[in-house]
Amino acid sequence: MRFREAEITSPATIANFGPGFDSFGLCLASPVDRITLKKDEGADFIIRVEGEHDAPLAPEENTASYAALKLAERCECEEKGFSMVIHKGMKPGSGLGSSAASSVGGAVAMAALLGVRDKRMILEAAAMGEELISGSRHFDNVAAALYGGFTFVSDQASRRIVRLEPPSFNVVVLLPEIEIRTGDARGILPANVSLPDAVQNLSWAAGMVHSMMAKDIDAIALNLNDRLAAPYRQGLIPGYAAVRESALNAGALAVSIGGSGPAIFAIAREGTDRIRDAMVEAIRSSAGLEAEAFVTKPGTGAKVVSVR
Ligand code: HSE
Repeated sequence: MRFREAEITSPATIANFGPGFDSFGLCLASPVDRITLKKDEGADFIIRVEGEHDAPLAPEENTASYAALKLAERCECEEKGFSMVIHKGMKPGSGLGSSAASSVGGAVAMAALLGVRDKRMILEAAAMGEELISGSRHFDNVAAALYGGFTFVSDQASRRIVRLEPPSFNVVVLLPEIEIRTGDARGILPANVSLPDAVQNLSWAAGMVHSMMAKDIDAIALNLNDRLAAPYRQGLIPGYAAVRESALNAGALAVSIGGSGPAIFAIAREGTDRIRDAMVEAIRSSAGLEAEAFVTKPGTGAKVVSVR
């Protein structure tokens, strides 16, 4: 083991980002999980969770420690004895890639201790942590949290990840006070989709990739649509239609569901306070739900803050 202590941050992400179900991911600048991993001879694997959000304390059940252990296994590191402090910056089950942030964080922290720089190895270990929680090894959130910017999985079998640098735009995020389990939100999706829906989605997806490359915010908004998952999931989020309409009326360029929900996000050039307040008020008046809301921007991915 090269180092004894690593501190990292790992960000929230928006999976799917419109038409890219299980492929697209947008990394957000905030919120982030903060993880400190230490070599601790006296311990087996002790976990402490700080902050207002909870996480399991058993190393085989906690997504951060699980991904860290999987990374160590892949590196054939047989050392035992660690302690991990996790400050959860985001609420689990909110649609902002909370489990991916922790998984990537755990794997990045262990990689820092071991002096490992192979991002593919980190990605695979992080996806195993994601699978532990969601029951599915999808790479959209973990890729965006690890690489930052806008990412897509261009080949699901070989996990070829492409990263693009998005333009700077505002992302207004609404977190309704309900929880949706990713497994449940995946369970309601149809096993097959119609050819017209598939054609429309791939057209939007192609448009989205081009818009990111061209850094064209209006075109990003035009392509922020989905027929594969969002239409089925809207029913899980009371007040979704009203929130969408009020955000657009308040000046948002486009609105969609964050990952498997219930997060709803809007993109905007300006007027973010007005859009945020309109979204909060819309979910309150249409569905009787309270919601947190915040404004952020595309971010740059997990970071090693210190290693020694
Ligand atoms: N692509 C995943 C989904 C993201 O929409 O189910 C949630 O983790």
